[in-house]
Amino acid sequence: MRRTVPTGGLAGALVTAAVAGPTVAAPAESTESIEEGTSARASDRPIVIAHRGASGYRPEHTLESYRLAIRMGTDFIEPDLVTTRDGVLVARHENEISGTTDVAAHPEFAGRRTTKTIDGVSVTGWFTEDFTLAELKTLRAEERLPQVRVTNTAYDGRFEVPTLQEIIDLARAEGQARGRTIGIYPETKHPSYFASIGLPLEKPLVAVLQENGLTRKSSPVVVQSFETANLRELSRLIDVRLIQLLDAAGRPYDFTAAGDARTYQDLASPAGLKWIARYADGIGPNKNLVVPRDAAGNLLAPTDLVRDAHRAGLVVHAWTFRVENQFLPADFRIGADPNARGDITSEYELFFRLGLDGVFADQPDTAVAARAGLA
Ligand code: G3P
Ligand code: CA
Repeated sequence: MRRTVPTGGLAGALVTAAVAGPTVAAPAESTESIEEGTSARASDRPIVIAHRGASGYRPEHTLESYRLAIRMGTDFIEPDLVTTRDGVLVARHENEISGTTDVAAHPEFAGRRTTKTIDGVSVTGWFTEDFTLAELKTLRAEERLPQVRVTNTAYDGRFEVPTLQEIIDLARAEGQARGRTIGIYPETKHPSYFASIGLPLEKPLVAVLQENGLTRKSSPVVVQSFETANLRELSRLIDVRLIQLLDAAGRPYDFTAAGDARTYQDLASPAGLKWIARYADGIGPNKNLVVPRDAAGNLLAPTDLVRDAHRAGLVVHAWTFRVENQFLPADFRIGADPNARGDITSEYELFFRLGLDGVFADQPDTAVAARAGLA
């Protein structure tokens, strides 16, 4: 596979060659939507993964955020998964929900506010595992970044916390209506923690995927995690594609719990990538592992991570692409307002030219548009 992208500017200066890599598996063009047996069409174009839905435009992890992303042309929608007290998987980035719901305004749940240690960090608030699904459904989503994405607050108080099943149903219905497959790209959040309290995520995840006939390598499903043990377990239970997430610092929490000294940087080495390839199909790196920045936010030379991952047979889906200046490298900011939109197209072009196989995007329309510029 060899891609070309528009060159020029910093992207052209930083990148010296397109990178050959393993075939990218994207959802197939199909009228079958998310049905089992839909072939995952081989493609040489990077996939677009709607990060928490179209979270740049709607409160994250709501059906309306996912629906908008689908209408913008995304290939996959991404739910982060946690569980309720009665074992139902729901979409939230954290199990502590005061930052993305109106739980604090519900006096009937005031007594549920508590402090817990999650992955070694003390957290105070309200936790999904202390609510039944019926109770959680009485809450409404709120914008996580109200100061940054002011217009999104117009939707506060309107949308429920969705279940994984509701998200699958949405993908299926929207895909059928549009004659194309919409994939789901769930992430298990805090798997060691949830296992430690007797609410493991893997069993209900496998059950939901099995009930929906989504357990094959060709299924339009990709499961991701920052931890490793649960992915290795899932690799023995089902055949869906698996992605090992890699952060720019630290180590998987299951390594911490097990006394394994390896870090994410170790896993991003050629030897680490070879180990990951034993159980996963790709990596999902923090984009700073692909193109680092200096302390002022200026881009530095790209690393060899994409090339090394491809040599190990792994695809590379990096995160997170966001249009606002404060999230962009200094090179691509426009003006001084940290909340204004910058030149994200140039950022996509840089990463596409490096051979990236997919991007997690808060504004999936921008990724779809940038991809359309590929030769
Ligand atoms: O899953 C890819 C990316 O979403 C990881 O970051 O913290 O947004 O889940 P986070
Ligand atoms: Ca995620």
